[in-house]
Amino acid sequence: MAQLPGQIDPNVPSVARMYDYYLGGKDNFPADREAAEQVIELGRRTGTDIREVALANRGFLIRSVRHLAQSGIRQFLDIGTGLPTQDNVHQVAQRVALESRIVYVDNDPIVLAHARALLADNHETIIVQGDLAEPDAVLAAAADHLDFSQPVAVVVAAVFHFFHDDDQVAKIMETLRRPLVSGSHLVVSHGYIEPGEGEEDKVDEVRGVYRRSTSGAIAWRGREELLSLFDGLEILPPGVVPAQKWRNDDDPYPWPGLARGGVLGVVARVP
Ligand SMILES: C[S@@+](CC[C@H](N)C(=O)[O-])C[C@H]1O[C@@H](n2cnc3c(N)ncnc32)[C@H](O)[C@@H]1O
Repeated sequence: MAQLPGQIDPNVPSVARMYDYYLGGKDNFPADREAAEQVIELGRRTGTDIREVALANRGFLIRSVRHLAQSGIRQFLDIGTGLPTQDNVHQVAQRVALESRIVYVDNDPIVLAHARALLADNHETIIVQGDLAEPDAVLAAAADHLDFSQPVAVVVAAVFHFFHDDDQVAKIMETLRRPLVSGSHLVVSHGYIEPGEGEEDKVDEVRGVYRRSTSGAIAWRGREELLSLFDGLEILPPGVVPAQKWRNDDDPYPWPGLARGGVLGVVARVP
């Protein structure tokens, strides 16, 4: 990456670039790789393969977007987009229906720089800089490109675990739901962890790595905590499950790395 947008400090590990590294991407700096390797090593010592977790999350995202596109959803708002990788939301949705409209939102300027280059020729897809912590502003920006009188799928994949305040997460979800008409959907994935005995110190070390990153925090949440965010919505089968298990029955891979931690996935419909 020869040219950097103004606000980027390559010495502060970015959660977008660390995730890119987990996925095997090349859009990352030494500080990102070092932080990511620390997390990978701590995961290894507690029986969790972080790279498999990232791939499982990505697989969930692709399958859920494809499912919604095949069910007729033509508008997607993807908040916390991440650096472009294989099978981004617009590619998955537009493969099903070319006219699908997508708004990407991320607070990391490097994501915007890469996504803008990728999307130069795609008039149905835009990317805007925005913060999930300010959901009203995100919705207002999205409304310039999406028609909220029609169903929209709001995707928040692997982002809420960077918010440590449960009340804030609940309020953001409430705000995101407010403008959605019947037939709209919410897609959420979220890190969870079940530390074994004596592993708390390693979990604390992972917290320390993310504290020094652009997100400033990581907070894992379990099935019940996630379910409480979807009150009044229809949760699609198979419910809140490890990401790799969401509508993935044909996959014979046993995912041995995900025994102690991973990502939970859930898709819910606005009735
Ligand atoms: C782990 S990546 C997930 C990328 C993609 N959603 C996926 O699941 O494959 C998290 C992304 O969320 C972005 N992010 C983190 N906190 C955010 C916030 N408060 N507002 C918007 N984006 C955020 C990061 O910059 C990064 O691109």
